[in-house]
Amino acid sequence: MVSIKHYVITIALTGLFLAVLVIWPDAQAESKKDRSGPMTSEFSGDPNQPRRHFRVRDISEMTPDERQKNYQKIRNALRAGYAASGGKTAQNYQKWPRINTAPYRSATHGRRFVNNYVNSKGAAYAMAEESGTLPVGTIIAKDSFVAAKDGSVMPGPLFLMEKMTQGFNYVSGDWRYTMVMPDGSVFGATKGANAARVEFCIGCHLAREKYDHLFYVPKKYRKR
Ligand code: HEC
Repeated sequence: MVSIKHYVITIALTGLFLAVLVIWPDAQAESKKDRSGPMTSEFSGDPNQPRRHFRVRDISEMTPDERQKNYQKIRNALRAGYAASGGKTAQNYQKWPRINTAPYRSATHGRRFVNNYVNSKGAAYAMAEESGTLPVGTIIAKDSFVAAKDGSVMPGPLFLMEKMTQGFNYVSGDWRYTMVMPDGSVFGATKGANAARVEFCIGCHLAREKYDHLFYVPKKYRKR
């Protein structure tokens, strides 16, 4: 009896030892894994309710011309990726006027290079601080990409703001914020699936309540 007990205990302990040896490092690696593709660091805090955008670890400084060239390389791929979401905006936004002269680095959108497009309803957006409250149906689309020092260019998410009818959501000034990942999966949308994940958009843009929650294109990259 004693020897059987001994046998069982030995097996159990060996099992435990192996589990610690094999499963633990795996679990560690899993928790360290990037959830948002290459070149980005982890979320801060709860991944379902991020406090800020995914940050980019390594970015390269480029001239506006170089940025534009890199954007040209990836532009079609960006649209194709976002379009997998099935959204009309994701398919069409590149046909709308681009408001910025060249891609610029957005510190507040994960330090990626971004562009701002607006549909015809929201044409006044180009007038920046003079644009006033934009009409229902306005859609502003901000696409993004990452350029690494080794010259590789990678897609980033699509950031959307759509002006909904009055009463849609008071805190967001009736804007619906949506974030579409490069593969077309929708990360979150105000009042839609995973709304908590885009609450941080509302929070930051709220600082601009006076300007219809809009920050506008940085002065250096405006056409006028
Ligand atoms: C920490 C602040 C901050 C957060 C968080 C933030 N934004 Fe912005 N957003 C800005 C600033 C500043 C600009 C203008 C400059 C720029 O593009 O970087 C801007 C511009 C935009 C624009 C162009 C319209 C405009 O305001 O001129 C869109 C669209 C946009 N953001 C969508 C989003 C979405 C969607 C989220 C959440 C997934 C988000 N933003 C989160 C600060 C923020």
